Amino acid sequence: MNYEKGRNSTENRPPQGGNLILCGFMGCGKTSVGRRVAKLMERRFCDLDQWIEQQAGMTVSQIFDREGELGFRLREAQAVALIASQKGLVVASGGGTVLYPANVECFHRLGGTILFLDVPVAALQERLKRDKRRPLLQVPNRRQVIAELYEKRVPLYQAAADVTIDAGAPPLVVAKRIAQRFS
Ligand code: S3P
Repeated sequence: MNYEKGRNSTENRPPQGGNLILCGFMGCGKTSVGRRVAKLMERRFCDLDQWIEQQAGMTVSQIFDREGELGFRLREAQAVALIASQKGLVVASGGGTVLYPANVECFHRLGGTILFLDVPVAALQERLKRDKRRPLLQVPNRRQVIAELYEKRVPLYQAAADVTIDAGAPPLVVAKRIAQRFS
């Protein structure tokens, strides 16, 4: 198990009732791990992108098409403000959510603990090679775009997170480690 202590993690435990927020690159397993963590810890699960889609009545791709990335980010920030104020959730954020300091501040201020699911770039390139859903990846040179985004984003995920989790293993294995650590 690879846990590195982060800024706010003397014990790596969220305060009672605080949300656990999973962050990291597209394809790192935020949703698949998060769903399993919630089940193991008997908490409610919230997927931020799905929540936004339900509120908007549009898919993330449609929001990007109609409102641009900026429109999506505004919806995302509003969703963070609402979801962060609830208690005891496991939250799968989007791959871009914690790149915005206001979102990180909001999660932390309301008692959330942010976990960065760290997966090597080669594994992400493999997992994402056939993706048709993520607007940022519908480009001809996908491997290259992933590599460039990854390099820019990893330091930001690390800075936002209280704890970094080695998340290259299958989702249930990663989820069990998290549940054990945070129960
Ligand atoms: C994004 C990641 C997506 C989604 C949107 C933007 C990003 O979420 O929020 O397409 O900027 O990395 P996933 O990480 O769940 O794919």
